[in-house]
Amino acid sequence: MPEDIILFQPMGRRVVVDKKHSLLTMAEQNGVGIEATCGGKGLCGSCKVQVQGKVSPLGKAEADYLGPDADKGYRLACQTKALEGVNVWVPENSRLHQQVILTTGYEHEMNFDPEICVWELSIPLDEPEQTDQMRERILAQLNLAAQLGSDFQWNLSSALLQGVNEKINRSDGKLSVVTTMSGLCLEISTGWDTKCLGLAVDLGTTTIVAYLVDLETGRVLSVKAEMNPQVSQGEDVISRIALCRDRPDRLEKLAGSVHQCINALAQDACMEAGVHPGHIFETVLVGNTAMHHIFLQLDPCGLAQAPYTPVTSDSVEISARPILPESVPGAQIHVLPVKAGFVGADTVAVVLALDADQVTEPTLVLDLGTNGEIVLATPEKLLCCSCAAGPAFEGGHIKWGLRGAPGAVDQVSVSADSLVPELRVIGDGAALGICGSGLVSLVSELVKIGVVTPSGGFDPAWRCQHLREGTDGWEYLLAKKENTGTGQDLVLTHQDLSHLQLAKAAIHAGISLLLAELGLPRVEKVLLAGAFGNYLDPVAACGINMFPGVSVENITSVGNAAGAGALSALISRSQRKRAQTIARRMDYLELATHPKFNETFVTSMAFSERGDD
Ligand code: FES
Repeated sequence: MPEDIILFQPMGRRVVVDKKHSLLTMAEQNGVGIEATCGGKGLCGSCKVQVQGKVSPLGKAEADYLGPDADKGYRLACQTKALEGVNVWVPENSRLHQQVILTTGYEHEMNFDPEICVWELSIPLDEPEQTDQMRERILAQLNLAAQLGSDFQWNLSSALLQGVNEKINRSDGKLSVVTTMSGLCLEISTGWDTKCLGLAVDLGTTTIVAYLVDLETGRVLSVKAEMNPQVSQGEDVISRIALCRDRPDRLEKLAGSVHQCINALAQDACMEAGVHPGHIFETVLVGNTAMHHIFLQLDPCGLAQAPYTPVTSDSVEISARPILPESVPGAQIHVLPVKAGFVGADTVAVVLALDADQVTEPTLVLDLGTNGEIVLATPEKLLCCSCAAGPAFEGGHIKWGLRGAPGAVDQVSVSADSLVPELRVIGDGAALGICGSGLVSLVSELVKIGVVTPSGGFDPAWRCQHLREGTDGWEYLLAKKENTGTGQDLVLTHQDLSHLQLAKAAIHAGISLLLAELGLPRVEKVLLAGAFGNYLDPVAACGINMFPGVSVENITSVGNAAGAGALSALISRSQRKRAQTIARRMDYLELATHPKFNETFVTSMAFSERGDD
């Protein structure tokens, strides 16, 4: 991170350090919503933030107010000034606006054949009650209920049999036994109303979404989402990998923060559904390869250098208890397989959810973010690659960039005569900044009119009150300071254009090389997965020439398909197996060392298909 930048997270807003002003003032001036109930007097604590980097010394009153939190890097934003580049994490309780996290998935039919089953047994009461005989009687009833054959091997530990006589007597012989389909008994409880739950987790670089599922019906009971707490340690996967390389103890800390967050999400989801977290018998988790490695505490450093090899690409099972402490012994977390250093289990899950391994016509599956994963599916092939798009699609490195949150402009139309823009703002309030989909929408309008040239610069011939020379070069004025929520002009700078151009060129080049590899001029269908893809206007994306070989009417947004894939693998053994097959079947095209990558990237920069000015 440059020395003189304050990075407010999870908003992703970068602000140049001004040592005269408090973090709260800097946040207010730059559209970062921090609660300030007492108006910045240091009396209410609502502006508490976590800070990494050199800031003004902690005063006595502030220290008294913060108590032990001061040792964890917390400060009151209204009492603290940045003295150099710092990371500022705004915890949920201190945020004025909540982030918009995509939790809805692609609606599709899912097989229902879960790995975990609950058997409702009637144990005869009129027989001897020695524990060893009780074991035989339970197994006999399990065999009857499951009909897996009398020689099926159940694994029923003596620990589970403790107190079982009493349970049987108490319940008139009615027992529920939760088992895996491979025969491991996980719990014996009285009565026939035991809950059998599962958790599907989509562990993203920026957000974590958890789905609580009834494993007897396949019904989703509750969905909870939170920002990935690792964002406060590093904005993207590369910075987190670098952290692990420089400070090996950080791997454990990064993993721990995500484990805690997943447990908190599980607790919240259970509370909302009115069930107990101890009834979560299985969890399926998907994530990109770096998140997968950090979650499993596998050294991620190999992912940052060629040949970007994962420590393991197989699916992994670990005990749930260290992460979900209320789980029964034997409960597992199943992590889906990854394909390559930058094509992870989330991409495998997307392919699974969208049935991209069973297409009948050439289909592109795109999951766009800081890293774009692209899969080109044909009836014969599954070819994938990964593109380093950078943070522009998430509002990163953009002067007034924001993640999708209230106050972010997410759609723009521009008058071709006057260049006056019409803005759509999430939450309908005054504009605080612009998110990735708003940026693409705006630039597409400006390209259409000709204000932005195909090669990527502003055309000075359009000079007017909306296209002007600012302190950093030419800029387009989206909203005057009187009309913004920051009290400053909202502009698109020449540098912003360059960042968007590099991001879209990375995607364009990736698609071009995949198509060339399979000798295809175009595809018949495009499926846009993930948060950015969900909010991206396909017309605007085509308007900046992001997707080669694609007709706009063939583009469909499919929501959080990675989450849908995790759900599918949770409730279906056959889908889980299919995920393994997909990971093995996919071929990976490494772009970093591709002989035509540089040439293709340069031609992909143009904002229009012809590319000339
Ligand atoms: S705004 Fe009240 S303590 Fe900072």
